[in-house]
Amino acid sequence: MPDAFALAETLAKHGQGHLLQTVAGLDEAARAAFLARLGEIDWAEFEHPAEPPAVGDVGASRVIPLAERAQRQSELEGAGEAAYRAGQVAVLMVAGGQGTRLGSSAPKGCFRIAAHSGKSIYQLQAEKVLSLSRRVGRDVPFLVMTSPMTDGETREFFQAHGDFGLKAGQVRFFSQGTVPSLDQQGRALLAGPGRLLENPDGHGGCFTALVKSGNLARLRREGVRQLVYIQVDNVTAPVDDAALIGLAMLEQAEVVTKVLAKAHPDEKVGHLVRVGGSDRIIEYTEVTPEQARSRNAAGELIYRWGSPAMHCWSVEFLARLTDQGYKIPLHRSSKPLKAWADGALSEVKGWKSERFIFDLIPEAKASLGLEIDRLAEFAPVKNADGTDGKVVADSPASAVQLASDQFAGWLAAAGVKVALPAKARIEISPLFAATRAQFLAKWDGRVKEVSGDYYLEA
Ligand code: UD1
Repeated sequence: MPDAFALAETLAKHGQGHLLQTVAGLDEAARAAFLARLGEIDWAEFEHPAEPPAVGDVGASRVIPLAERAQRQSELEGAGEAAYRAGQVAVLMVAGGQGTRLGSSAPKGCFRIAAHSGKSIYQLQAEKVLSLSRRVGRDVPFLVMTSPMTDGETREFFQAHGDFGLKAGQVRFFSQGTVPSLDQQGRALLAGPGRLLENPDGHGGCFTALVKSGNLARLRREGVRQLVYIQVDNVTAPVDDAALIGLAMLEQAEVVTKVLAKAHPDEKVGHLVRVGGSDRIIEYTEVTPEQARSRNAAGELIYRWGSPAMHCWSVEFLARLTDQGYKIPLHRSSKPLKAWADGALSEVKGWKSERFIFDLIPEAKASLGLEIDRLAEFAPVKNADGTDGKVVADSPASAVQLASDQFAGWLAAAGVKVALPAKARIEISPLFAATRAQFLAKWDGRVKEVSGDYYLEA
């Protein structure tokens, strides 16, 4: 337990002295637990949340556009493929947070989404890793970051499905941490007597959690050098991406981050930009509509590269930052919260603080962006389906449609005539093919035409 006087002094210094007034009335165990938690928190960091830079300081990052990527394809893929086959690549999927936006309290990954098989998002993501592992002859480690709110259900779900065919030791769960939610004056709120109101610490929490859980050290022991980062909510995010890995290795980039040309200036995505000699991603919530639409002298949008939240991290980079004691800063956003005061819970407006994993990018000695084809890699599920049959943007229905369009493209590229009625959907299991190249290599011409629902399993 922390020294009571030192704790009181720290709390008072950071405007959190009110917390100690709530200790009276707690039994001994509850008091000890509460004080221990108060002592663990770095209260100073809440006083200096991250600030976005002024628009005048914002320049363009180096990005490998699609055309250059195509030109360098064999060089990039050769280097990446060698790394996969040497066991130097692992996959990290973040699946934490509070998972309330789909209108269910279950983790987003449990959502049954696939058009015909009804596979869950977790199953689709896990089968991509399985498919990759089979292809390269390696049990590619699959790290899954949960939050205290999604951890139990996620582990049970994987267990109930036999880890979707992945080997023992291949799936590695670890949970992110939490941080206190604050009122509008910056004072920590309570969830109940002797309990802080806390929220998950953002996907940036995976940096600390990787270290604390021992997973970073384990990856290093295993010789893993590159970490492919995806978010559970992007149903078509590839994990078998030799060009991405190859680019990171050949350019000796500590991070390569994927980018796409924004669909429109106000699209709700982070932006890759260059500020003060280093790359960084600025979240859409931290850019005003005027900034999002501003253009440079050449007439290009200054914030033109959107982030689909897919990155390739060098494991040694993460280890170096850990050794330096680097801490990802907190960003705060105003939210309605349910807090406990005067013996009851009530709604208050306050601040949630989160760390963003992409704040590591400016710390990299070398970094760059890799443009992707939106249709091939980005089908995010953020919102619940509509109730009137219309397809809501970034919903399960829109993701299924995007995936189906992608599979239609694969079939067409293989010479199949595809003429789909509006409501028909194509589903191709990642266990048949998880990438276009794999599909084209495997396709046996079993049908000449697809004119309705179509499902292909392994
Ligand atoms: C996110 C990105 C945005 C990007 C967009 C692409 C952030 C802050 N913003 O926006 O730059 O353009 O995706 O789709 O990331 N998560 C955790 N723990 C947390 C919070 C989130 O694991 O504490 C995970 C969620 O499971 C989810 C992902 O991170 O998979 C995205 O988080 P979310 O808060 O939904 O970010 P977006 O606003 O969608």
